[in-house]
Amino acid sequence: MKSGQKLLITGGAGYIGNELIKIVPKGIEIIVIDNFHIDTEHKRHVNDKLRKNRKLTLIDSNVSESHKYKELLEDIRIVVYMASLNSYRESNADPLMYLKENSTNLQIFLNTLGQYSPNIEKFILTSTRGVYGEGSYICNSCNNRFYPPLAEELKCTICSSLNVYPQKIKETDMTNPSSLYGITKKLQEDLLSMYCSENDIQLDIFRIFNVYGEDQGKYYSNIGIVPQIYEQIIKQGEMYLSGNGNITRDFVYVADVNSIILKSIFLKNKRRNNKEIYNLGSGQPISINDIAKVFETLGYSFKKNRLKNYEDIKYSVADNSKVIKDFNIKDFKSMFDFLANTYKKI
Ligand SMILES: NC(=O)c1ccc[n+]([C@@H]2O[C@H](COP(=O)([O-])OP(=O)(O)OC[C@H]3O[C@@H](n4cnc5c(N)ncnc54)[C@H](O)[C@@H]3O)[C@@H](O)[C@H]2O)c1
Repeated sequence: MKSGQKLLITGGAGYIGNELIKIVPKGIEIIVIDNFHIDTEHKRHVNDKLRKNRKLTLIDSNVSESHKYKELLEDIRIVVYMASLNSYRESNADPLMYLKENSTNLQIFLNTLGQYSPNIEKFILTSTRGVYGEGSYICNSCNNRFYPPLAEELKCTICSSLNVYPQKIKETDMTNPSSLYGITKKLQEDLLSMYCSENDIQLDIFRIFNVYGEDQGKYYSNIGIVPQIYEQIIKQGEMYLSGNGNITRDFVYVADVNSIILKSIFLKNKRRNNKEIYNLGSGQPISINDIAKVFETLGYSFKKNRLKNYEDIKYSVADNSKVIKDFNIKDFKSMFDFLANTYKKI
């Protein structure tokens, strides 16, 4: 992508999108389509400020409302598709809304692009580790690899042994979403794969793990794990541990995510195929107990409550060797350093 060309970011008024816009060189004209599904004062304020600082057109619209933006599509070269509803709990409570917003509306958007945007070179999709569900395990009894469904106690689906161990997830592992959100994101991957293959457009799909960073809680309160935990501690003096607190996630810093997306926008990754899928995580396993310990060390006092009968993914950590190799990544920020600096008591 060169200076003077246009970049389209759907969902670009959200958390990751706003942080991305801050690092895109000013010579690139940006068009954002976002319907402010979650509307906060902070989000409006940041978006107003971003518009004043650079050539950026913000269209307050659902991606499905093509009459509001179709005239602006002519010179678009790269599309970053971030528009998404993102709560797995909400998605399970309202599957039809998630299917419509995340999947059907993407197809409506693609139909519009097909008519009005002939010069697209590349699509970038922010997908999620949610497409893997519980991911892959090895059974120590029968030595098989298996993909369990969500359960309170995981056992081998082949021999029923409880002696099982989670593996870091590889891009080649089977997808096995355990939420409607995960299903709609997998549908996004498939719809875009078909569109890009039919139109000879490059596609990078990033399966992003748990994002964290400054100001995340000002965009949404029920998605980011770290802001949720901090709010529980500050407002209620307690913290909820799913099960025994051993639930383990891969937390990846928002600026690390966006520096990779930026390289992808400028076609700076090695590619073997027109379509590439990347796990975008730090590769560091961190449990909810680890996070509780950091807050305790920082001097916060709170009660730890166990949640019974939980059904949540137990282990979700990226094998990120492909993204590291293709994007020439040196390292990822440590979340422990971030927590210590951000939440230290003054
Ligand atoms: N935050 C994470 O931990 C995480 C992890 C994995 C993947 N992702 C993906 O990254 C992307 C950005 O996430 P985020 O954390 O910035 O969330 P966010 O909610 O801040 O951003 C998403 C934006 O999309 C907009 N939007 C939703 N549906 C829309 C529609 N139909 N038309 C137009 N705009 C629409 C929302 O208004 C919002 O501003 C999403 O695609 C999400 O699935 C996020």
